[in-house]
Amino acid sequence: MITVVRTIADLRATVAKWRKIGDSIGLVPTMGALHDGHISLVTRSRAENKRTIATLFVNPTQFGPKEDLSAYPRDEAADLAMLQNAKVDALYAPSVAEMYPQGFGTTVAVTGLTEYLDGPHRPGHFAGVATVVSKLLLQAAPDRAYFGEKDFQQLQVIRRLSADLDIPVRIVGVPTVRAADNLALSSRNRYLTKEERARAATLPRTLSEIAERLRREPDAVAKHVAWGHRQLEEAGFRKIDYVDVCDEATLQPVTRVASPSRVLAAAWLGRTRLIDNWKI
Ligand code: PAJ
Repeated sequence: MITVVRTIADLRATVAKWRKIGDSIGLVPTMGALHDGHISLVTRSRAENKRTIATLFVNPTQFGPKEDLSAYPRDEAADLAMLQNAKVDALYAPSVAEMYPQGFGTTVAVTGLTEYLDGPHRPGHFAGVATVVSKLLLQAAPDRAYFGEKDFQQLQVIRRLSADLDIPVRIVGVPTVRAADNLALSSRNRYLTKEERARAATLPRTLSEIAERLRREPDAVAKHVAWGHRQLEEAGFRKIDYVDVCDEATLQPVTRVASPSRVLAAAWLGRTRLIDNWKI
């Protein structure tokens, strides 16, 4: 049976009980609206830990003032059923007041990695993510914590903060789960109209094609990125925030592929912002 806890004290008591009998613990942070991408993190955690804790918290500090915080899909009952089915041991679903009580005044800001890609397009976003993830890691004190490569910049930011703050946890990156047409599963895909959903597959197709072209022609980043822009525009993406080829470790944009790199993109279909990335 899954245990649902809503306070830091109850979370810590649950963890302490498992620690006492020597159980290892995996943490899977989420904002709910769960899909098979989230469940793949749970599956990996279950394979590597005796106990798995999922967290459900729609973190207000990582949404910009014009972003979709109030519209973000929420269905705790459906999420709980999925987690139960996936055999999660506990769900930690704190309130906003539990996470950010009166007087809360600390922000975790990761520099460097956040200067690129989503950083400039979503001011404050990564500070919100870094702060809440630091709190979740310190609250649960897991052996391992699981994050998707779907949000590759987020994954690297979290690796950075856990190393920099000496948080004793192993951060595990999990490959992106995709639909049959390769669209990365995302809670935000449910905002897409049927027509937009059909066009959305152009995003992964374009990224995988850029990756393939760059394997053959590693010096021609600008040319293949420009081609990618045209593909997305023709498919009806109305605004392209970026298509960048970046070094995997620093996320610094590169003009030629000479180190392990990824092509990463963010673009809008109607009112929905999609992000994805592909390894080169
Ligand atoms: P959320 O968007 O709910 O995603 C939770 C985790 O699931 C993240 O690590 C994300 O990368 C992963 N994920 C999402 N779609 C995936 C897919 N198709 N395949 C594999 N993994 C996928 O990311 C967040 O929440 C928040 O920023 C959070 C880290 C919880 C902090 O608030």
